[in-house]
Amino acid sequence: MRHRSAETRPESVRKVRPVFVDVDTGVDDALALVYLLASPDTEVVGIASTGGNVGVEQVCENNLGLLKLCGVPGIPVSRGSDRTLTGPLRLPSKVHGPRGLGYADLPRSDGRLTDHDSATAWVRAARAHPGELIGVATGPLTNLALALRAEPALPTLLHRLVIMGGSYDHRGNTTPVAEWNISVDPEAAAEVLAAWTADVVGPQRLAILCGLDLTRRVAMTPDHLARLAAAAGSTTTVLSPSDERGTRSRASNPLIRVIEDAMRFYLEAYHDIGHGYEAHMHDPLAAAVALEPGLVTTAPATVDIELTGTLTRAMTVTDWSGVREPNALIGVDVDAAAFFDRFIERVGPFAQRLSHNA
Ligand code: BDR
Ligand code: CA
Repeated sequence: MRHRSAETRPESVRKVRPVFVDVDTGVDDALALVYLLASPDTEVVGIASTGGNVGVEQVCENNLGLLKLCGVPGIPVSRGSDRTLTGPLRLPSKVHGPRGLGYADLPRSDGRLTDHDSATAWVRAARAHPGELIGVATGPLTNLALALRAEPALPTLLHRLVIMGGSYDHRGNTTPVAEWNISVDPEAAAEVLAAWTADVVGPQRLAILCGLDLTRRVAMTPDHLARLAAAAGSTTTVLSPSDERGTRSRASNPLIRVIEDAMRFYLEAYHDIGHGYEAHMHDPLAAAVALEPGLVTTAPATVDIELTGTLTRAMTVTDWSGVREPNALIGVDVDAAAFFDRFIERVGPFAQRLSHNA
């Protein structure tokens, strides 16, 4: 059974949707966050920082800097665990640069982190918005697993959970078979999937998983960036693989400048690993799906995380047979053009408003 769901409520009765996001910021996490901040009828009620693409301190700094840049410094940012459930974090990812945002410089923020950790932040946000909170996880799932240990009712408190993680009948990006977010903390991913079962949340509210097989179909190109700058009313110079490495953006809009400087590094990294001069929008797609599940077609399946394989640890082993109870809705098809239209029409005007308010 495959289904599309859509936001069908008329404008007049649309409510503000509270969203809690757990990120390991990272270029694409940053774009996911900006997308959520730019989306109408959406309130980001908290940001959990998890170590992954870069260490947790840097993730916190990136999140606070982004909020300052976007003119919303008051959103609570919490610090997550600096280790996985079973040991130290992996070394940082190379595709996001040493500070996570490629060549971009974020404004320094004097914003403070919450006095509680990210697991507690998940639980508090869910309890504050019972049945309404949309959770989005675009990093390793350590904080969410710890939150579940603290509050086993978390799955029933959430309205929806969308995770960027895994690779369904498809290759990995960290090992031949495993995707980064799951690879960093496979035990955490296993705990989350074990808790979010159909018995607990019902078959329609299983977690939506966006894996590499899906997100690799959503590749941002220099043309998309040029469209984004135009939608922001910003000047730009179209990025090209023949530009000198590390050329800095001279776009007139400050958010567009940060996006272009971050994206240039990401595009160069993708180019170097043989993907061409385009970069996959893993996390922004998950954020968009969290607000609008109808952007993807999903199919139920039973996913087990391989925890012991010598070659296959962190693989998302997916049973489509329907023999076992499904424990996830897997994103299996996406309208990439619709995603980019949505991204540009939201983030462009948001960036433009920021420059007017500056
Ligand atoms: C995931 O890994 C990270 O590098 C990205 O931010 C994304 O969340 C893709 O495998
Ligand atoms: Ca991420």
